[in-house]
Amino acid sequence: MLSTYKDSTVYQIYPRSFCDSNGDGVGDIPGIISKLDYLKELGVDVIWLSPVYKSPNDDNGYDISDYKDIQPEFGTMEDFDLLLAEAKSRGISIIMDLVINHTSDEHEWFRRALAGEEKYKNYYVIKKGKNGRLPNNWGNFFADCPWEPFGDPANEEYYLHLFSKKQPDLNWDNPGIYDEICDIMRFWLDKGVAGFRCDVINIIHKRSYENGKKHLALTGKEHYLSTEGTHKILAALRRDVMDKYDAFTVGETVLVDIPMANDLCHPDRKELDMVFSFEHMECDQVGVKWFKTAFKPKKLMRILTKWQKGLGWNTCYFENHDQPRSVTRFTEGGEYRAIGAKMLLGLLFSLRGTTFVYQGQEIGMTNGAFDSLDEIVDIESHNVDKMARSLGIINPFRWHLIRRTSRDNARTPMQWDDSDGAGFTTGKPWLKIHPNYREVNVARDSVDADGVSAFFKEINAFKKQSPVLKDGEFSELHMGRKVFVFERVRGDERLIAICNFSKSPAAIPIPVSGRTVISNYKDASDNGRLRPYEFMLIDPKGDKNDKGR
Ligand code: GLC
Ligand code: CA
Repeated sequence: MLSTYKDSTVYQIYPRSFCDSNGDGVGDIPGIISKLDYLKELGVDVIWLSPVYKSPNDDNGYDISDYKDIQPEFGTMEDFDLLLAEAKSRGISIIMDLVINHTSDEHEWFRRALAGEEKYKNYYVIKKGKNGRLPNNWGNFFADCPWEPFGDPANEEYYLHLFSKKQPDLNWDNPGIYDEICDIMRFWLDKGVAGFRCDVINIIHKRSYENGKKHLALTGKEHYLSTEGTHKILAALRRDVMDKYDAFTVGETVLVDIPMANDLCHPDRKELDMVFSFEHMECDQVGVKWFKTAFKPKKLMRILTKWQKGLGWNTCYFENHDQPRSVTRFTEGGEYRAIGAKMLLGLLFSLRGTTFVYQGQEIGMTNGAFDSLDEIVDIESHNVDKMARSLGIINPFRWHLIRRTSRDNARTPMQWDDSDGAGFTTGKPWLKIHPNYREVNVARDSVDADGVSAFFKEINAFKKQSPVLKDGEFSELHMGRKVFVFERVRGDERLIAICNFSKSPAAIPIPVSGRTVISNYKDASDNGRLRPYEFMLIDPKGDKNDKGR
């Protein structure tokens, strides 16, 4: 176990959209290498690299056709080795994305299964239809049908795919799969990676393939959510592989509640080290994630509080490659974009847990500016459009739904500078660059003493040297319609965080005094009133006149 994972700041790179070194419009590994000094300066300890393995790219690399090779668009294995070495020389570790619920249908295993090799057929979930009907009534994560004919449709055999039809699910009842995956993990760990972010890891083992209870989108989920089988696999991977290395895991665990999360990552159980939960990412949705509703800050505060108190150690994140941008979601944006982005970072770093940030969050990048579905690449969005069409939802309502929820909102190219191509590429970018790159970009933000990234560096550095912020217990002090106040306590050390989730000034709802150690406004506080999207971190023991920043 990487002993420092609790104290690390993890920065997620979505390679396709990070930095393109050769002008083909697609980010690549040499591009990442060229930005390592930038990441070092931000105070990043660990990079989580979204998949760079060989892939036909149906789901941007989450459909892997060779787990031991690099996607040619991204570079070569030599490039990867160089990235690892260059990162290491700067004290930065790298964790890989481990996608083991499914492979690509272009993986050799699936090809050999299709060619009739029994051994490989048994690597996947292949079931007979029933009297012309599908094997069961399950739903699919990408608004699709989860069964696709396997080989000749006359055979009435289907393979299971909980995601795209180019992502057949692996059969984890087959011990052969376990051996293959151990081998893949060792391959990367032996190279020196610091662990894995484990994709949809709590659904890998299916308890049964019976019909499921009706659900809006995921009928059947009770048959595969955090099963005993999955717990056993995780414990075995930990014992047989992970514990032999200085490395850690963070599981992407969909649909988990606190007891389930606790079972997946409690230190005594020796399964995962940490999990990503989603309840806070669902605070602005009704039912499924494609139906968004108005954001109510109090709901977010309540959910964060519940998880802070309910789970021993959290991952703290507001963004990743599957979620719309936090500044668009949780603030008014516009003239409040930068101050709002800083407030959200202040909140994020003040929580208890390992902090995960996503590329662009450090400069307050916003949701993409797409004009129509034609500009969207994300397979999920296209499936949602089809589903909505079949439900009789007409445009512009379908587009309205997709524009707000599409994963491409977070996947627009990184905005490095104000040159054509935003410093991301000299060619034609694979996905539309947000036109606000002329104002919102790294070159401009990083020379602004009051920029988002300056604040990011400040609070990141502060947390690293603050035992109470790293480790102190969390208690909520006030959860209002717009204002959130909480404290962190460790022994007799205490820090109080205050966040205003509104463009309107507000009174500080409870008496708080002391020294402001971090604030997202440069000038001293407005006599106890909170300014728009103000964030303050207060040391109650300090003298309020000594700002100490
Ligand atoms: C995870 C990934 C997502 C991917 C899915 C299927 O949720 O984060 O991007 O589409 O798994 O692998
Ligand atoms: Ca490239």
